Amino acid sequence: MPLDGGKVRLRDFSENDLDDVAAIIGDDRVTHWLAFDSRNREGAASMIAAAMDAARIVPRTEFYLASAGSSTDRVIGFGRLALGGIRSAKLGYAIHADHWGQGYATATARTLVEFGFGELGLHRITAAVGPENQRSARVLERLGFRPEGRLRDHVHTNGAWRDSLLYSLLEHEH
Ligand SMILES: CC(C)(COP(=O)(O)OP(=O)(O)OC[C@H]1O[C@@H](n2cnc3c(N)ncnc32)[C@H](O)[C@@H]1OP(=O)(O)O)[C@@H](O)C(=O)NCCC(=O)NCCS
Repeated sequence: MPLDGGKVRLRDFSENDLDDVAAIIGDDRVTHWLAFDSRNREGAASMIAAAMDAARIVPRTEFYLASAGSSTDRVIGFGRLALGGIRSAKLGYAIHADHWGQGYATATARTLVEFGFGELGLHRITAAVGPENQRSARVLERLGFRPEGRLRDHVHTNGAWRDSLLYSLLEHEH
């Protein structure tokens, strides 16, 4: 860390990121699409603390990283690669709603994918996306992810069960 992703820089979180993180995950425009409801400032502080704790575990199995703009250190989003199984990981990401449509999620996801297949030696990366989340599906498809199927009642979020579409990318496909 950090990982240079062109228009973003992925780095570990610090307590100084609280305002930025609270603005992202306290916003229903963002969490509407996530597996958890909007969180208040305390919830944002807990998320940062958990990410910082996970970063200290050796060997590291979770890379929950802040996505900062290249010219400023402010956090505009985040990406997460969570290792599990054999050379496998789950990918997730979110971007502050005011910055959507500018390629930040693509840059964040691409950087994590390259890190995963490169430095971490992964074989398979998956991402679970709400069936209506066309923006996220577009990001994954652009990176070469393929749909695998539908996970029924995969998450309980925003007061209801929600299916997910599972996408995957294998090491020889990226
Ligand atoms: C999904 C998300 C991360 C995308 O972030 P972003 O920075 O806007 O993504 P990018 O700019 O890299 O790419 C967005 C793509 O969606 C497309 N898009 C934008 N608005 C769209 C819409 N209403 N319907 C379909 N596609 C749309 C864009 O055109 C772009 O594709 P293109 O470059 O091929 O044209 C962001 O919307 C977000 O944080 N959503 C809430 C959290 C979330 O869904 N996380 C992913 C959970 S699986």
